[in-house]
Amino acid sequence: MRKLIQAVAAATISAAMFLAPAAALAQSPIIIKFSHVVANDTPKGKGALKFKELAEKYTDGKVKIEVYPNSSLYKDKEEIEALQLGSVQMLAPSTAKFAPLGIKEFEALDLPWLFKDEETYDKAMKGPVGKWLFQKLEAKGISGLGYWTNGFHMASANRPLITPADFQGLKVRISGSKIADRYFRDIGSIPQIMAFSEVYQALQTGVVDGCENTPSNYLTQKFYEVQKDITVSYHAHLQYAVIVDSKFWSGLPPDIRAQLEKAMDEATEYTNSIAVKENEDALAEIKKSGKTTLHYLTEDQKKAWQDAMRPTYAWAKGRVGQEVLDLVAKQLDVKMN
Ligand code: LMR
Repeated sequence: MRKLIQAVAAATISAAMFLAPAAALAQSPIIIKFSHVVANDTPKGKGALKFKELAEKYTDGKVKIEVYPNSSLYKDKEEIEALQLGSVQMLAPSTAKFAPLGIKEFEALDLPWLFKDEETYDKAMKGPVGKWLFQKLEAKGISGLGYWTNGFHMASANRPLITPADFQGLKVRISGSKIADRYFRDIGSIPQIMAFSEVYQALQTGVVDGCENTPSNYLTQKFYEVQKDITVSYHAHLQYAVIVDSKFWSGLPPDIRAQLEKAMDEATEYTNSIAVKENEDALAEIKKSGKTTLHYLTEDQKKAWQDAMRPTYAWAKGRVGQEVLDLVAKQLDVKMN
């Protein structure tokens, strides 16, 4: 009997020793750092938190998502390099941020008044345009997991921006798209690329005179407190691509990756379902604050902006190439020049 007990004990000990590393591994979760530059209380911020909630639930705690909002880990200029170096695993940059990787085609999405409304935008991204653009990223070792919308840009300054002439000589902060650079030049302003986290101070101190962004970003970054006049022009669209390093993603255990993809699909649907309302609510709050004046363009005034910015379309061909313009034109049934 004693021998049997000893034998069982020995077997148990060796089994325990054998199992120990695997058990330890099972206990230490895979960490995914998700960095972004906007506030938690925005469509992208809420989308990131929704992904965290679902991913941790579906993987039963085997994956831990650490969300770093508000440029607290990286500024927008540094994010993609950090992803490639493996210092961060997930990002959701605006699609204007891919040009430094040598992928300029995303900038076609920044053309002024390209998308009639949010439905048109959504259709384009779910169709061939969105897929084709993700293939461009894949060629650079980056995988696109979903497109998240943040609606349409407004424009602001410390003077009313009603006609193209009002933009004359205005120093305007842009986030990086050469298409935005072009359309602001078309109307006589002087665009300047600047990190998102530096915009508030630049507006406050007069380093720049104005900017463009969506209501949720104006509200949460307090841009409206340092801009006397905002034109609700909705002249261009702001969209994000949620991205991961392809090698990191394909190196995950397949069952875990499948759960994360499910979480991402649901988080994407959630984000895109709240974005319009989030921006409407943000605009209402900005209005209520009384700290800035909101201006709305008449149809004629809008047409004057559109005509003045139109040369950007012909110029875009040399920047983003004919192929993506043809794809977009076909899918949206619009003319590109
Ligand atoms: C910007 O830089 O203005 C935007 O890309 C910020 C954001 O991610 O919404």
